[in-house]
Amino acid sequence: KIIVIDFGGQYNQLIARRVRDLGVFSELKPHTITAEEIKKDLPKGIIFSGGPNSVYAEGAPSCDPAIFELGIPVLGICYGMQLMSEHFGAKVSGAEHREYGKATIKVEKENGLFKNQPQEQVVWMSHGDLVEAPPQDFDVLATSSSCPVAAMANIERQLYGVQYHPEVRHSEYGNELLKNFVFSICQCSDSWSMEHFIDEQVEEIRKNVGTKNVLCALSGGVDSSVAAALVHRAIGDQLTCVFVDHGLLRKGEADGVVETFRDHFHMNFIKVDAKERFLGKLEGVSDPEKKRKIIGNEFIYVFEEEANKLTDISYLVQGTLYTDIVESGTDSAQTIKSHHNVGGLPEKMQFDLIEPLNTLFKDEVRRLGTELGLPDEIVHRQPFPGPGLGIRVLGAITEEKLEIVRESDAVLRDEIAKAGLDRDIWQYFTVLPDIRSVGVMGDARTYDYCIAIRAVTSIDGMTSDWARIPWDVLEKISTRIVNEVAHINRVVYDITSKPPATIEWE
Ligand code: XMP
Repeated sequence: KIIVIDFGGQYNQLIARRVRDLGVFSELKPHTITAEEIKKDLPKGIIFSGGPNSVYAEGAPSCDPAIFELGIPVLGICYGMQLMSEHFGAKVSGAEHREYGKATIKVEKENGLFKNQPQEQVVWMSHGDLVEAPPQDFDVLATSSSCPVAAMANIERQLYGVQYHPEVRHSEYGNELLKNFVFSICQCSDSWSMEHFIDEQVEEIRKNVGTKNVLCALSGGVDSSVAAALVHRAIGDQLTCVFVDHGLLRKGEADGVVETFRDHFHMNFIKVDAKERFLGKLEGVSDPEKKRKIIGNEFIYVFEEEANKLTDISYLVQGTLYTDIVESGTDSAQTIKSHHNVGGLPEKMQFDLIEPLNTLFKDEVRRLGTELGLPDEIVHRQPFPGPGLGIRVLGAITEEKLEIVRESDAVLRDEIAKAGLDRDIWQYFTVLPDIRSVGVMGDARTYDYCIAIRAVTSIDGMTSDWARIPWDVLEKISTRIVNEVAHINRVVYDITSKPPATIEWE
């Protein structure tokens, strides 16, 4: 296994992901991890991620210096390399020109890290600081026109650094470099797979849970379904799934979930009808973050009440993904929006959380779901946020507005399926902005709501582009919505990517 130490870089989890794609288990650890803790984990290699700080700035994240003495190979990327350089006495300073984007590096010295790669190659740089000269006992492995040290190493001590980002696809031979580090330098074998992930998680869950009982917060979406299946594999009937109908679900959704999990999988299953209490708490609330927090808190209160009706429940399973965590804000990343299952949780809870998917990306979770035997209709379901239609009715939520979103969403889903586009589009849904406009229907003036269609393509939800739905399909959707959904006299299509927008409107 390879440990990636997190210094707050944008691509840190992507590094772990790339290593996993090579068939070697990898996970992210905070930069406060000690050398002792690392030693216990028995990694074959350590990668230091990039980060937004300057190593010489006050309060910049650092690491336990004993890590360099463990005898385990280390690869520092960007900030990681600068930290290593500073530790070994080299000077890191602000670059004259900050460098973002493509650059060409020249490999200066034959070595294992750059094995099987051309001498000149295009890489992706993103830095404001640079290492002026390598530390003592380190060699320069590569240079670029603006970086005297684009890569460096103390080969004897197996300490390596690169200024650029090998984990991003724009670095032409980045994957080769990671391969060289992981296989030639760290001597890992490519034996890890989703099957191993399942085995490891099953063992860990069994060990942690013992004879206690566990609740699973099941929404019927991909993530919580896969988490439920995984934990069910580990502890069988010690698991009870709780599905909360908060009144913010899509048309027909509640019945579908009950049918799949209770009737098909035969898991212990409880459905809680909590519509009144959620809508009551949300009444008159229009601030998106407040809505998210109310929903997140209320979920937990419902789970606590259900747990108290059962015996010995100490754990709550959530299908939290890595992307939920990073967007809710971590020590080093900014809050974009509080995902209900992370930033939306109450401060005090009676449960410990089990979140077996919290290192994974969505497409990895889908692969895991298939490996666990879940049917395609669950594994390839479009993502649906925990706060549900609550964040698709913009502003204060009312029953009438929910109904508009529910009905228009059902039309959209139906037409997208009929057009055979449901697997190509990552997510497609309708949003009700809090505005009305003038229209004319049957010779009469109308002053009614407009509905927005949001449809995006994405790999992992972190970035996305708007889906190029054929115009004739959009036309059908628009015509059907204004004809079939009361109080809608206008349909618009959202053509913004993420960034700068986000996928959901709130
Ligand atoms: P945004 O809107 O941040 O969404 O671009 C990225 C992905 O996350 C989903 N999403 C959520 N999922 N709880 C969830 O389980 C949430 O609170 C939440 N907020 C957004 C969103 O649907 C998209 O797939």
